[in-house]
Amino acid sequence: MTILLLAGSPSIPSRSTRLLHYTGERLAERGMRTVKLHVLDLPAQALLHADFASRDIRTAQETLASAEAVVVATPVYKAAYSGILKAFLDLLPQDGLAGKLVLPLATGGSQSHMLALDYALRPVLTALAARHVLPSVFATDAQVEWNQQQGLLLAEPIVRRIEAGVDQLTATLASLRAAREEAFAPVHFSQVRCSV
Ligand SMILES: Cc1cc2nc3c(=O)[nH]c(=O)nc-3n(C[C@H](O)[C@H](O)[C@H](O)COP(=O)(O)O)c2cc1C
Repeated sequence: MTILLLAGSPSIPSRSTRLLHYTGERLAERGMRTVKLHVLDLPAQALLHADFASRDIRTAQETLASAEAVVVATPVYKAAYSGILKAFLDLLPQDGLAGKLVLPLATGGSQSHMLALDYALRPVLTALAARHVLPSVFATDAQVEWNQQQGLLLAEPIVRRIEAGVDQLTATLASLRAAREEAFAPVHFSQVRCSV
């Protein structure tokens, strides 16, 4: 089982994607297996024409379907999430996130739009039947900087919020896995009763 890192920015380089990869590294440190999917790598024609039959779209859907959890990152665009992320989510089946935990991340130019994830993206994730959407993490551009020598420089509050999100994600996954194993615990033959 994997955690999908879903990048929803149309830009390269991308602050939100860097924040996503940083989160993926923290998850990997906790022994989680992650896989990356960048919506930008999908064929634009298929996204814009809602081509459900596209092989690349189907492969992306399968990658998503086989993930236990999703960390989704987007820039804030026009007080909402990016259009290419919407184009991809539109191509998912109605229950495309069924049973999954989701951790949403966003970067935006202004603190004023810090609620964009909660009023714009969260309802869509819920409508796609996500099992649990964890508290989202929003960072302003000033809190996510790139330095040629030092690499990614995150403001301290963002480091803490990502840490809390990763802790919550891994703890919830562990309890769900434990519950699954308990539900299918082996039963000794002597305990098996049958009725006719
Ligand atoms: C077309 C466009 C629209 C944007 N709209 C908003 C906005 O409504 N609110 C905001 O806070 N930032 C807005 N921004 C700024 C981006 O959200 C911000 O720079 C973000 O970090 C970019 O993320 P990325 O590098 O991952 O693409 C906008 C940027 C662009 C290019």
